[in-house]
Amino acid sequence: MNAPDMRRQSCLPLHRAEDFPILERPVRGKRLVYLDNGATTQKPEAVIEAERRFYRESNANIHRGVHWLSQHATDLYEQGRETVRRFLNAARAEEIVFTRGTTEAINLVAQSWGRANLKAGDEIVLTAMEHHSNIVPWQLLCAETGAELRVVPINDRGELDLDAYVALLNERTRLVAVAHVSNALGTVNPVQDIAARAKAVGALVLVDGAQAVAHMPVDVQAIGCDFYAFSAHKLYGPTGIGALYARWDVLRGMPPWQGGGDMIRTVSFEGSTWADPPQRFEAGTPNIAGVVGMAAAIDYVSAIGLERIAAHEHALLEYATEAVCKLPGVRLIGTAREKASILSFMVDGIHPHDRGTILDMEGIAIRAGHHCAMPVMKRFGIPGTARASFALYNDERDVEALVAGIRKAQAMFDGGAAR
Ligand code: ALA
Repeated sequence: MNAPDMRRQSCLPLHRAEDFPILERPVRGKRLVYLDNGATTQKPEAVIEAERRFYRESNANIHRGVHWLSQHATDLYEQGRETVRRFLNAARAEEIVFTRGTTEAINLVAQSWGRANLKAGDEIVLTAMEHHSNIVPWQLLCAETGAELRVVPINDRGELDLDAYVALLNERTRLVAVAHVSNALGTVNPVQDIAARAKAVGALVLVDGAQAVAHMPVDVQAIGCDFYAFSAHKLYGPTGIGALYARWDVLRGMPPWQGGGDMIRTVSFEGSTWADPPQRFEAGTPNIAGVVGMAAAIDYVSAIGLERIAAHEHALLEYATEAVCKLPGVRLIGTAREKASILSFMVDGIHPHDRGTILDMEGIAIRAGHHCAMPVMKRFGIPGTARASFALYNDERDVEALVAGIRKAQAMFDGGAAR
């Protein structure tokens, strides 16, 4: 078998058509080509059914009732925690805190650990490729504490300048917060190496895993990070639920950040005491059905295998990169040697939003704009990009539709210029 055939082989979709009913619906009279997986993924029947079954058969509040149904719902919720632990290879289930998603997980660390531990003169190291959700919480924290941000630059390929990173580290560095995979560029960062360097100066490490968990196996112990945040909805799970992994030795010393039911041990008007983690960080009735759905999503991708998903998407990304680069006037933004699932590009003479709109007319869903990563756009001197992002259900037909859509947009704009 020659090389192109092997590539085609590995681009075969990994799902059964019936797994994702939404992909069967036409959009604007065309076949839906869903390439906006970086924003959110579609949900398999297994996830939709798990949430539905929870509400039909198991719904009750958790950790509160003595009745059977409450205990049953609590069991499902805590089984979800164990599922996330296994998925990330955390050492213990108590290291998993459920949150609304990545953004809330990062805010939790900033507001709990950060406020308790940072002071004027301390430094937080970020990178120039962070999503706003891994920038703004730290800016808020710096404004409160007097700590300062340091930013690792990126090169023209969209890779971190690791020499500059090492040069920024010093005894004032308290935290390094870095994306595992850049949502705007697709760069996969060497988080294990980054964590080891941070540890050498005694800093903690937070990894934003929002764009990684659906695309590669993640092992928080192997990475050596203290915090790892992700959202279920980019992992074929429901919106409004995600998790923070926090290393036990750090988590157990962190104060609450939100008060309410379920996070306390005792309450009196003289003062209250706190439950142990992870309950300490889960005030109020949580998204119980969301946890059940997230666990079903993890089971779904685990049954396929993250290694297989990574290989499939990598083959697809290579195929798409080659095909899109052949088009005249098309330029990739983000050409790192290690990339996952994301193809950001510019087309000469066509604004990213126009590109997105023209592709939409063809039933092709991509994202256009700054992707909540304005510093990346500034670094490359552009207003935004068009971004196609791949998932396990995409195949070569989707790439071919994308290429045809870009050609059509170019023809329309050339025609417009001629008139
Ligand atoms: N952060 C998500 C994206 O990159 C919404 O599209």
